[in-house]
Amino acid sequence: MDVEQIETAALAAAAAAADEQALDQVRVRFLGRKGEVTALLKGLGRLTPAERPAAGARINVAKGRVQAAIEARRNALGEEQLRRELASEAVDVTLPGRGGGGGSLHPITQTLRRIEEIFVVAGYDVVAGPEIEDDYHNFEALNIPAHHPARAMHDTLYLDNGLLLRTHTSPAQIRVMEQQQPPLRIICPGRVYRKDDVDASHSPMFHQVEGLVVAEGIAFADLKGTVVDFVHRFFEKEIGVRFRPSYFPFTEPSAEVDVRCVHCGGAGCRYCGYTGWSEVMGCGMVHPNVLANMGIDTERYTGFAFGFGADRLAALLYEIDDMRLLFDNEIRFLEQFA
Ligand code: DAH
Repeated sequence: MDVEQIETAALAAAAAAADEQALDQVRVRFLGRKGEVTALLKGLGRLTPAERPAAGARINVAKGRVQAAIEARRNALGEEQLRRELASEAVDVTLPGRGGGGGSLHPITQTLRRIEEIFVVAGYDVVAGPEIEDDYHNFEALNIPAHHPARAMHDTLYLDNGLLLRTHTSPAQIRVMEQQQPPLRIICPGRVYRKDDVDASHSPMFHQVEGLVVAEGIAFADLKGTVVDFVHRFFEKEIGVRFRPSYFPFTEPSAEVDVRCVHCGGAGCRYCGYTGWSEVMGCGMVHPNVLANMGIDTERYTGFAFGFGADRLAALLYEIDDMRLLFDNEIRFLEQFA
């Protein structure tokens, strides 16, 4: 075959190659070590010196054309491949979105924020205290000395180093009075821990909100007004509130606060133990021993304090009958609070 025929065959073969592999076979067939164009070049040696330059030039032109044709086909195949990939990965931007599945705040977080908002509007500062406490702040300074029977009620979780997980948010009262002079008006929301087994109304970790007001002329009437007003704002209705005399070592006098059962409205049901009331908080006038421990002049200043379970209030507000739901992180439950 002469150079014309080989060139024509090579250009046709390159143009017809269906993919990279076929194209590579074309390259080997014509330009490879034993290829047809290569053979023509090798055959130059058999020509006379006079014939050689013209024949060599012609073969090199053919070789260049074949190389160019293969290169052109390679580019064309690459573009086709790219077009196919783009077509298969195309995104229809006109389709309606699938939605981000947005998260939301946990009902306890929502409850804590709701509580904070009510008190902040009333001029309270929101403070935080450590969850790992010492005996002094959790008990001693709150008028609960060693061997006091009130300690038995706390089922304290102790750490190896002698510290403990706070059993209530009341130590925040002490930490505030250590740092600041009256007048004081704070709440401290946070986690507390007790060695309790889990059931519908108990969890070893739960949330409390502590309140403390110390100033001149503070009376029990201020405590009562504050608590009743808070409960009404929290439930967004004038729900019934009652105070029962009680005992806490760090307050005197002390009271417990009940609200009308949200489930039966007072008629009595299994949620309220057929009493018509749900207990929501402890409170009282700050014991003079506690103020004196903090170097506060008890002739000049009086105060009130309160502490309540935020999980309890959340359960009442949202009418949840099992507190475990608040800690299980069951998505179908949590989605209801989005
Ligand atoms: N610390 C108490 C508890 O965990 C609750 C409490 C009662 C807090 C009366 C107070 C208070 O500040 O005055 O049961």
